[in-house]
Amino acid sequence: MFHPDGPTLFELAHQALSSTRRGYDLLAEKFDFTPFRTPDAILDAVAAHLAGSSGDGLDVCCGTGAGAAMLREVLDGRVVGVDWSEGMLEVARRNVPDVTFEQGDAMALPYRESFDVAVSFGAFGHFRVGEQPLLLAGIHRALRPGGRFVFVTSEHPGPFNRTAFVYRVFNWVMKVRNRLLQPPFVMYYLNFLLPEAQQRLEAAGFEVEVRPLSADGPFSRARLVIATKR
Ligand SMILES: C[S@@+](CC[C@H](N)C(=O)[O-])C[C@H]1O[C@@H](n2cnc3c(N)ncnc32)[C@H](O)[C@@H]1O
Repeated sequence: MFHPDGPTLFELAHQALSSTRRGYDLLAEKFDFTPFRTPDAILDAVAAHLAGSSGDGLDVCCGTGAGAAMLREVLDGRVVGVDWSEGMLEVARRNVPDVTFEQGDAMALPYRESFDVAVSFGAFGHFRVGEQPLLLAGIHRALRPGGRFVFVTSEHPGPFNRTAFVYRVFNWVMKVRNRLLQPPFVMYYLNFLLPEAQQRLEAAGFEVEVRPLSADGPFSRARLVIATKR
C-alpha cells in the first residue's frame, strides 16, 4: 500500500482489528516501510537540538528503534528503548544492536531518576487523554532532576484543515470500532496537541519550552517541545 515491502491494506485492516499491542506484533516486520515510522527529517531536527548533550537516554514506545538510534548518535551514556510489542522490539534489536531494548508498558515505566533525556515519537495517539497523566508521570519519574523530555507535536489545526478533517473521521471510525469490538485498538489522532499538551506536562511537574521544529518545508507546523524536570 505505501511501499512494495510495506503492509497490504488487508494486513493493515487485520492489525486494526487486533489489540494495540498485537497489532504492532503483526505489523513489526513491515513497519519500517510505512509512514508510521518517524521520518528521518524529524529525527534529524531533534538530534540537532540535542547535539552536545551527554548522559543516558530513554526512547518511550520505541517501536523498531528510530528514536533510540538517534539518541545513540547524540548521547555518550546508556540508551534504552521501551515498548510493549515483542515483535517491534525484535526488529529494533536488529536495527540498533548497541541499544538495550526492554519490553514494558509505557504507562507503568519502572525507572526512577535513571535518564537525562527521554524522547517519544509517533505514540501519543495510543494513549487516551485520561491515560496521559500516567504516561507523563512515569517519564517524569524516569528522568533525573534537570532531565529533558523532548518530542514533536503541533498546535491545533484550524477547523477547515483538510488533514485534520481526515484525522477526525479516522478517530470517529476508531471510536465505533472500539465500541463494537474488544480488545480495543487505541489510536486517536490530534489528542496531544498544544496548548493542552503543555498544560498536561506542567501538571506532571515539567517546565515547558516550545520552539518551531523547522522554519519551512513539510514540517513547518511541527513544534519541538522541551519539557524539563524541575
Ligand atoms: C507508531 S509506533 C512508533 C514507533 C517509533 N517510536 C517510531 O517513531 O518509529 C507506536 C509504538 O508505540 C508502542 N506502544 C503503544 N502503546 C504502548 C504502551 N502502552 N506501552 C508501550 N508501548 C506502546 C507500539 O507497540 C508501537 O511500537
